[in-house]
Amino acid sequence: MPQRQIELIDPVEENRALHETESRIAIAGHPVHAMLVAFPIALTMSVLGADLLYWWTADPFWARVAGWAAFGGFLMGVIAGITGTIELLLVKGIRNRSASWTHFILAVMLLSIMGANWAHRIGDFEGAVLPLGLLMSFAAAGLTAVTGWHGGKLVFDYQIGTKPHQKNS
Ligand code: HEM
Repeated sequence: MPQRQIELIDPVEENRALHETESRIAIAGHPVHAMLVAFPIALTMSVLGADLLYWWTADPFWARVAGWAAFGGFLMGVIAGITGTIELLLVKGIRNRSASWTHFILAVMLLSIMGANWAHRIGDFEGAVLPLGLLMSFAAAGLTAVTGWHGGKLVFDYQIGTKPHQKNS
């Protein structure tokens, strides 16, 4: 009796449009978003560090550092977010993957907290740190870790932003 051949179909492999994940906002093939995200990540962690140092030493210098780092982190985060969002809307293979939207939602929540943390400090760097500034810094640092980790997952697990594999090369 002839054996029936069962063919497994991977819906992602089937849809060739989903393969177009290559970054369009890039310089010589290097995604601009990946270059920019280092700034909000480092600055958000710096805000937390400066807040903790202010709490420990009561030196107003650290409160000023935290205020300016909160401003720089938010500004660079928004610029990085704009490049990521253009990528998300332009590239079909990025837009079609739910993981990209998860990253977008995480990032928008993060940028909201970063913006609030900066706005809260305007005009009173010192008075803003304890307790609300420090609490927002902890929340922003935690969410930065999650969003950054998830961004790496997009690239390394789902190859989002990368060129498709070249066969026979
Ligand atoms: C606001 C909307 C955002 C969108 C739509 C977005 C979208 C993306 C996309 C599509 C990628 C894949 C690489 C590429 O195509 O450039 C990516 C990677 C990444 N994103 Fe975002 N992103 C956003 C904001 C952020 C923010 C605020 C952070 C900072 C924590 C961040 C951290 C990362 C990281 C670390 C990577 C991996 C970069 C690499 O290793 O090459 N993203 N993002």
